[in-house]
Amino acid sequence: MEFIPAPKKGFVPVRFIEGVLSRYSGKELLVGYGDKKPLVRRKLILFLRKIVATAKQNRLKNLDINWKDLRALASKDVSDLALGKLAGEAFVMADYEHVAYKEKPREGFSFIETIAVRNTPEEVKRGGFWVGEQIALEVNECRSLSNMPGGDMTPKILAAAAKKAVKGTKAKIKVLGRKEMTKLGMGAVLGIAKGSSEEPQFIVMEYWGAAKKDKPVVLIGKGVTFDTGGLQVKPGDSMLGMHMDMSGGAAVIHAVALAAKLKVKANVVGLIPAVENSPSGEAVRPGDILKSLSGKTIEILHTDAEGRVILADALTYSKRYNPQVVVDVATLTGAALVALGTQASGLMSNNQKFEDLLRQLGEESGDYVWPMPLWEEYDAMVKGTFGDVPNISTDGNSRDGGVIAGGKFLEVFAKDIGCPWAHLDIAPRMTANQNEFLAKGAAGTPVRLLFALVEYYAKAN
Ligand code: BES
Ligand code: MN
Ligand code: ZN
Repeated sequence: MEFIPAPKKGFVPVRFIEGVLSRYSGKELLVGYGDKKPLVRRKLILFLRKIVATAKQNRLKNLDINWKDLRALASKDVSDLALGKLAGEAFVMADYEHVAYKEKPREGFSFIETIAVRNTPEEVKRGGFWVGEQIALEVNECRSLSNMPGGDMTPKILAAAAKKAVKGTKAKIKVLGRKEMTKLGMGAVLGIAKGSSEEPQFIVMEYWGAAKKDKPVVLIGKGVTFDTGGLQVKPGDSMLGMHMDMSGGAAVIHAVALAAKLKVKANVVGLIPAVENSPSGEAVRPGDILKSLSGKTIEILHTDAEGRVILADALTYSKRYNPQVVVDVATLTGAALVALGTQASGLMSNNQKFEDLLRQLGEESGDYVWPMPLWEEYDAMVKGTFGDVPNISTDGNSRDGGVIAGGKFLEVFAKDIGCPWAHLDIAPRMTANQNEFLAKGAAGTPVRLLFALVEYYAKAN
């Protein structure tokens, strides 16, 4: 998709109309914005995507939109630059579809070719549309990685994808294999990886865009390339979709790549422990005790609670960077989906200000997050019996408060880092829902939020 300043012959004018219905008259594309103007940010994002989704349904290729119409529709709280950015993001995200495994239909795929946005102020073209487009292209790359079937997305392939994502930028990348991890003592990652014939990889990305002395933002992403559940194999239908269990890792890869491509003046480190969680004669067993990089032992009480275990080593590894803040991103629990539905990721932090910041940036970026408590009262969830920390709650019914149990486990390992830390349980937002005008499959969350966070620290520097 390309943005140009003026329409050419054959471009279809887009008109915004009251009501929810949308249609193509043969001359114009009429898109309903609802029954109330102006549109606040949340509504605006959806409406902007709806324009492209409707155009695609009608197999239109070239659209003619008037900036003044957009401006008149959007709330005054949204600045010109912000509106341009939101539009760039929304148009490009709504155009994406996962077609890598599909034969091209005779009439071609229904992607948009060009959008002309007439009367766009000069500063909005580059500072708004262009930036939004770059962000969305990276979000879409993240979605492509997540959408890749488990058979085609192994830890090694994920590591190769990370290298490709930062190619040509200043970002550096290093990948630790089984040998290096053994030397370091990363028993948590290695333990979960044991059941699979795929070698685990620990992907380390560094982008130094500010002075070396400035503490980096460390982003950690769960990279389980397929989650069978391990020996406690997932039942029935619940394994389908688990090729996306590396979505946190994919988001971190592309957030780092985006910061490097846009030359943001901040230091960013991305850490992605990548494993396949498989059952086999060598797989980790319930009751096994793993020695983590921190020195603490982890009691495996359930082989399907693997994400937190590999993240433990990554949290400990982050300490060597003396980070400004650490955020981990993981499709950690089905319980998060039960609690929040498909609209927001779970947010847990050991620092109130940092939690507030992430909530605000989530709201602005469109990657919505919602807080859950990590009160001391929940400490009993992570009391080990024969090891230091159990990987599922040992306080009563292990299903109760499943999201918080995940957060509490990670908090134990985050404590030692000595900086604000937050955990995003993105399981609720792993796939796009029916009402957000995005193609089926991975939602690409929270690339936009992580990038906003990196930009926030660039400005603070
Ligand atoms: N990857 C899953 C969580 C998940 C489930 C993500 C559905 C997205 C959609 C995770 O590794 C897992 O299996 N969690 C268990 C934890 C339980 C054993 C404590 C779960 O949610 O059932
Ligand atoms: Mn699991
Ligand atoms: Zn998992």
